[in-house]
Parts: sequence; structure tokens; C-alpha cells
Amino acid sequence: MRVFLAGATGAIGRRLVPMLLDAGHEVLGMTRSAEKASSLRAAGAEPVVCDALDAAALGDAVLQARPEAVVHELTAIPQQLNPRRIERDFVLTDRLRTEGTRNLVAAAQAAGAQRILAQSVAFVYEPDGSGRPHGEEDPLYRDVPKAFRRTFGAIKELESTVDEAGGTVLRYGYFYGPGTALAADGSLAAQARRRQLPIVRGGSGVWSFIHIDDAARATVAALSGPPGIYNVVDDEPAPTREWIPAFCEAVGARRPMRVPAFVARIAAGTYGALVMTRAEGASNARAKQQLGWIPEHRTWREGFRHALD
Ligand SMILES: NC(=O)c1ccc[n+]([C@@H]2O[C@H](COP(=O)([O-])OP(=O)(O)OC[C@H]3O[C@@H](n4cnc5c(N)ncnc54)[C@H](OP(=O)(O)O)[C@@H]3O)[C@@H](O)[C@H]2O)c1
Repeated sequence: MRVFLAGATGAIGRRLVPMLLDAGHEVLGMTRSAEKASSLRAAGAEPVVCDALDAAALGDAVLQARPEAVVHELTAIPQQLNPRRIERDFVLTDRLRTEGTRNLVAAAQAAGAQRILAQSVAFVYEPDGSGRPHGEEDPLYRDVPKAFRRTFGAIKELESTVDEAGGTVLRYGYFYGPGTALAADGSLAAQARRRQLPIVRGGSGVWSFIHIDDAARATVAALSGPPGIYNVVDDEPAPTREWIPAFCEAVGARRPMRVPAFVARIAAGTYGALVMTRAEGASNARAKQQLGWIPEHRTWREGFRHALD
């Protein structure tokens, strides 16, 4: 298949290019920079230099590329995440999820691409306290802290734009592994070594992780699977009281501190405290069943040791 990959130089895009090529696809990799275009060419992709927020230029670029599939992996998330600064730090990512998605879907449709895939997240389900990992039909947040409201709206808009176009939404868990914040040289590891990754209120929040290569493998599988919404997460949702100490150990940090929720609210804001205390995990049953995909790193317990050493 001819695959137009928007975000080919990003955290997941870099892992996806060689896997798409290995699977026999032709890859047209988009970047805004001439320098990164050379590295895409060296990796075996055909570079396309374009800005996703320039609708006319993107329309021309996709039309010329004549892709059969368009994959949207565009984000602009700062390496150093500060949950108190989400509104400021996610301005561009939110634009890429709204305007960028509309531009890309319109360009894909005008070029006659049969398949559209886009990146979303598996960590915005409304907590229900059941202890059961969330499936794709479960409701998303009903009431989100103000700091996260615009970003949450952008995620929902991306999903509805892609869904209405008959495309596939990949709700990835939290990435870990090479090139992500959760790598030995990543920003979260640096934060843990500064002892700024505490266990909040007994560590009741639950996260779902995915190794970046498993996320890329699921994306390749989704290119030929039925369109729909898929959680792309590992098999074992991870309570913060368990994954934070394991992460600290894997990256050579000292044991994490324990703090009450009000301290986390002061340090990390209401949204930061929410993800540490009330977040709930997601289920990968649908992706396994419909895409025939199985994560190689079945659980973060083994994955952290392997990827963060
Ligand atoms: N589920 C998750 O946990 C998750 C999801 C996403 C990101 N992250 C994390 O966030 C951090 C940063 O990752 P990232 O992938 O957002 O950043 P990144 O590594 O800088 O990649 C962003 C990609 O989007 C492209 N891009 C951005 N704006 C564009 C525009 N206007 N037009 C065209 N292309 C544009 C970039 O292309 P050029 O710069 O080459 O133009 C690049 O390919 C990493 O630690 C990553 O793990 C986590």
C-alpha cells in the first residue's frame, strides 16, 4: 500500500517507518523540515515537506502523493511536561488534533485514499470505580478540570472527524521506550531522579501503558484491519503505587516519595492530581480480536526492565 505518514519524524513515526517498509508498504513521510527530510530518505521513505496547518499546501502534497492510506501521528507535545501548564503547552497539539485532522481528512478524501488512521489516547475514560479496564464503548470524561478542557475537546473532535470519515482511531496508552519521555534518557526518568515523581494518596490512579514498538506494530496491523476505534494498550493496567516504584528502580532513581492529594494539587494542579489518583486503565481485547495484534511486551513490568535499563 502507498502510505502517507503525517508525523513520520515523531516519537511513534520514527518507529513506524521501518515497520511499514518491512511489511512491504511504500512510505511517504511528512515533515516540516528539509533536514529531517534527508533522514527520512535515508530511512527508506519518500519525504514530503509540508505543514499540516497549511490546508492548501497539504491538499496539494497529498494529492500528488496519491496514497492509498493516510496515517495521522501529528502531535507537538513538549519533552518536559508540566501538568500545571497543559493549556499553554498543548496549544499546537490541540490545533493539530482539530484543524490538522480536518485538513488531513479532507486531503485524504480528495486524493481518493481508502484508509485513514489517526492517533488518540486511551487515558480519557470516565472513571467508574468498577476496577474493570475500559472498553472502547465506555464513556469518556464527563467533567474535566479546566486546564484539560480544551485538550480533551480537541481529542474528541479528532475522533469524531476520523470516525465520520469511516477511518480508524487508535487510542494509544502511555508510551514508553526509545524516544519517549519514559526512556532511560527521557524527561520522566530525569524527574524521577530528582524525586519529583511521587506516589499520590496511596497510588490509587491506574495507567495503561504501551511500548512504542508495540504501538507501531498495532498501527501496521490496523492498516489492513476493520475500521473502528481501538485501545492500543498492554495486558496489565498499572496502579501508580506499583508502576512508579518499578519505573524508579528501572531508571536508577531512589524510591519515590509519598504525598497526600492536596500536595499534588498544589504541585501539579487538579488535572495532575486526577491522573495520579482517579485515572483508570483500558482493555486491549478488541484490538487483539479484530486486528490479530498481540503486544510483544505483554506487561509494563517486563517492558520497563527491558526498555529502560
Ligand atoms: N500516548 C502517549 O503517551 C503519547 C502520544 C504522543 C506523544 N507522546 C510523547 O510526547 C513526546 C513528544 O512526542 P511527539 O511525537 O509529540 O513530538 P515529536 O517527537 O516532536 O513529533 C511530532 C511529529 O509531528 C510533526 N509535526 C508537528 N507539527 C507539525 C505541523 N504543523 N505540520 C507537519 N508536521 C508536524 C513533527 O514533524 P516535524 O517536526 O519533522 O515537522 C513530528 O513528526 C514524546 O515523549 C512522546 O512519547 C506520548
